[in-house]
Amino acid sequence: MNLFFSDKSPVSRTEKEVKLNQHAKALWFTGLSGSGKSTLGLALERELFSRGYHVQILDGDLVRMGINNNLTFSVIDRIENIRRIAEVTKLFIQNGIIVIDCFISPTNDIRSLAKSIIGPDDFIEIFLDISLEACEARDTKGLYAKARSGLIKEFTGIDSPFDIPAEADLSLKTGELTIDQSVEKILQIILPKIEFRR
Ligand code: ADX
Repeated sequence: MNLFFSDKSPVSRTEKEVKLNQHAKALWFTGLSGSGKSTLGLALERELFSRGYHVQILDGDLVRMGINNNLTFSVIDRIENIRRIAEVTKLFIQNGIIVIDCFISPTNDIRSLAKSIIGPDDFIEIFLDISLEACEARDTKGLYAKARSGLIKEFTGIDSPFDIPAEADLSLKTGELTIDQSVEKILQIILPKIEFRR
């Protein structure tokens, strides 16, 4: 039992949600490197903010420079990466805040771990469904070229696995949709879940 979540807190999550006029949820983006998680996450954050929602975005590249800067991309460290992120996400949710999580989270087991830590009712999984070939062709960070030449080991999709999500609440063909179209599709499924009705 985590002390942060003991019943002793004098202010309940519901009171915080009432104050913020929203229901807290984790919007969990999963997909290959280059699938558009960060781009879409930032666009969604802006859209939700402009609609009056209070949102925290957590992103793999940034989190791995800070709280998780001691972790590699081995399977064990990826599990630890996601375990910590899920715990942090849970803290935000407990405070009534909507979280946009942008992490490759490559396997069904890793995503199940996140879902079980955060709680299934608060976890909305969004799969950015785009082929490895398309991500590699974009190669915005130049990492696929490095992985192919052996400079980076255990790169997702090259020599480290990515399981197609089995339980996603929404799949988005980010290679075909514009950012605005993807944001619109996400809003359709999340607004009924985050709107606070008195
Ligand atoms: S996860 O697998 O543990 O969920 P995470 O989302 O935190 O990954 O980090 C992924 C980002 O780290 C990628 O978008 C990429 O910029 C960078 N990266 C560096 N090395 C690797 C690698 N070996 N595999 C995947 N991504 C990598």
